[in-house]
Amino acid sequence: MIIGVLNQKGGVGKTTIAINLAGVYAKSGQRVLFIDADPQGSALAWSAAREAEPLFAVVGMAKPTLHKELPDMAADYDVVIIDGAPRVSELARSAILASDIVIIPVQPSPYDVWAAAETVRLVEEARQIRENLQSVFVVNRKIVNTALARAVYAALANFSGTISDVSLCQRVAYAESAMNGQVVLETAPRSEAAREITRLARSIAAQLTTKAQAA
Ligand SMILES: Nc1ncnc2c1ncn2[C@@H]1O[C@H](COP(=O)(O)OP(=O)(O)OP(=O)(O)O)[C@@H](O)[C@H]1O
Ligand SMILES: [Mg+2]
Repeated sequence: MIIGVLNQKGGVGKTTIAINLAGVYAKSGQRVLFIDADPQGSALAWSAAREAEPLFAVVGMAKPTLHKELPDMAADYDVVIIDGAPRVSELARSAILASDIVIIPVQPSPYDVWAAAETVRLVEEARQIRENLQSVFVVNRKIVNTALARAVYAALANFSGTISDVSLCQRVAYAESAMNGQVVLETAPRSEAAREITRLARSIAAQLTTKAQAA
């Protein structure tokens, strides 16, 4: 399965979600390949900061031919995660075309909902070529006990694509783990962060399996 984490908006949590999802799948014994498709190289920097044994391979491939080159590379892996770049549409287009499912992280703010339209448009365009391509919004950095997330769910319902029933909260554990090139499952395995990212990983895998069986 190839999971793209994309949003043309910067700073919404693409890299954080991509790395921690990869960590969940790798820890569960799956062979994971991580593609850093962002010229900023955030995931490569994460991997360089790591002193422990690698959990998964991280390869830099910020090029618009990713969708053509990835199938051969992916053959030896159970899961491929693509961390997308913000803003550059040729890179996003290629990363979306390479994916079986596109996760679109959205922060609980109207600016993020408005900005999601651009990514949704790219996904719809890719669906003309790959009709089974799936997409799912994941609300990230939710702040507990605020009504904002509910309003954001309602606004997202106007777009095509599903909305994950698993959202991720604003938690310092994500940045803390990244500091040493680790994932929350390693630094805080019993934390709420570890619990929510594990639930998200399972729900994404389940969504792909259900749709594959239905097709
Ligand atoms: N759930 C969260 N709780 C707390 N902090 C978070 C969470 N998700 C992301 N962050 C923080 O938000 C910032 C941006 O996150 P991240 O780099 O993952 O976003 P991005 O979409 O990959 O950004 P870019 O578009 O620049 O690639 C980082 O400082 C990260 O630690
Ligand atoms: Mg990033």
